[in-house]
Amino acid sequence: MRIDIITVLPELVEGPLNCSIIKRAQDKGIAEIHIHDLRDYSSDKRHRRVDDYAFGFSAGMVLQIEPIDRIITKLKSERHYDEIIYTSPDGETFNQKMANSMSLMENIIILCGHYKGIDHRIREHFITKEISIGDYVLTGGELAAAIISDAVIRVIPGAISDEQSALSDSFQDNLLAPPVYTRPAVYHGWEVPEILLSGHQRHIEEWEHQQALERTKRLRPDLLEDPVK
Ligand code: ADE
Repeated sequence: MRIDIITVLPELVEGPLNCSIIKRAQDKGIAEIHIHDLRDYSSDKRHRRVDDYAFGFSAGMVLQIEPIDRIITKLKSERHYDEIIYTSPDGETFNQKMANSMSLMENIIILCGHYKGIDHRIREHFITKEISIGDYVLTGGELAAAIISDAVIRVIPGAISDEQSALSDSFQDNLLAPPVYTRPAVYHGWEVPEILLSGHQRHIEEWEHQQALERTKRLRPDLLEDPVK
């Protein structure tokens, strides 16, 4: 899978996507991430400006249409994109189901919002999906783009060495994950549940399922009520 991220702050996206599982997925060729500095596509070669004042009376700067048109048109001339995403608090709230379905795509573009917003014509003519990572406002869409890319790449088969562990994540079956423990079996008198030391696979799986169900009912009952989440 290939993800092209368009941003005015490349360094903000590079860091989180250059570590651990997501870096290894790129090294293994499972995912390619290309980060593009929107300023390289500015009409203003001297100051590399990509924003301008909003028409009307709104305060704040708006990302201009020309540089965004230039980079998106160039990328689209090179390959087909399954989705051109804009990160914005207005978008559909990101969840595991969206991450799973996006992980099956071949090429996506993520355009990071910034400043007051982007010229609305970009949203009308280029963007195929708007995604929010939650009901709060960030200074820009870069962290949202990194979060979306991380969640999508880690579910591509092979990204996590033990594939089973991505499948048993919280949310994969609308249930929170059961608790996990490691050695020592007793610490300061605090004991690991005995069943986990029994070696009986079916009983352990049943216990884990019960725990997952109990935690979901207690902490996130909405997940059980709304099966599409
Ligand atoms: N940009 C600013 N806030 C955002 C959010 N909550 N989700 C996605 N992009 C954003």
